[in-house]
Amino acid sequence: MDKLKIKIIMGSTRPDRFSEHPARWIAGLAEAKREFDVELLDLRDYPMPFYDEPVSPTYRKGPPHDDMAKQWAEKIKEADGFIVVSPEYNHGYPAVLKNAFDQVYFEWNQKPVAFVSYGSTGGARAVEQLRGMAVELQMAPVRNAVHIFAPWDLVADGALKAGALDPYAHSAESMLVQLLWWTRALKTARG
Ligand SMILES: Cc1cc2nc3c(=O)[nH]c(=O)nc-3n(C[C@H](O)[C@H](O)[C@H](O)COP(=O)(O)O)c2cc1C
Repeated sequence: MDKLKIKIIMGSTRPDRFSEHPARWIAGLAEAKREFDVELLDLRDYPMPFYDEPVSPTYRKGPPHDDMAKQWAEKIKEADGFIVVSPEYNHGYPAVLKNAFDQVYFEWNQKPVAFVSYGSTGGARAVEQLRGMAVELQMAPVRNAVHIFAPWDLVADGALKAGALDPYAHSAESMLVQLLWWTRALKTARG
C-alpha cells in the first residue's frame, strides 16, 4: 500500500506562536512511523478571505473561486488523514482555523482527524468543539488526543525548553496508533 498522507495543520498564525513547537514535535513523531508521509500545513501560507462564496461548499459545483481557497482545497483533497494542532482561544479554537475548515467540504469527508492542543486545561475545550465540527464535515475524530498544559511555561526566549514535551510522548504514541488504524481503514473504504 502507498504511504498514508497525513497533513498536520497549525492552528495559529500569530507572531511568536507556540503552535510551531508542538506541530514540529508531532510531525517528527508521525514521520517516525514508516506508514506515514507527513506534511506540515501552515495557515500563514494560505491567507484566505473569510468564507464569502455565494453558496456553502456542500452545494458548490467545482473548486472555490478564491485562488488561495482553491489551493487549500487541492491540498486537503490530497490527504488521507489530519492532525490539527490547536490553541484554545476564549474556550474555543482560533477563527483562522475555523475559516480554513469552512472553505471546503467534500475534501474533508470520510477522513480521520487527531488533535494536539494546548492551554490552561490542555486546550480540552477547544478540542471538544473541533470534534463536533469534524463530525459535521463527515470526518472521523480519533479518541485519543495530546493535551499540553500551560504552554507558556514550556518556552524560554522563544525556544522550547529541552525535554518540555517528553511527558506527552505516551499520549502522542497512542493517538498516532489510533490515527494510523483509522487512516488505513478509511482509505481502504474510500478505495
Ligand atoms: C485571543 C486569545 C484567547 C485566549 N483564550 C484562552 C482560553 O480561553 N483558554 C486558555 O487556556 N488559554 C487561552 N489563551 C492563551 C493561549 O492558550 C496561549 O496564548 C497560547 O500560546 C496561544 O497559542 P498560539 O501561541 O499558538 O497562538 C488565549 C490566547 C489568546 C491570544
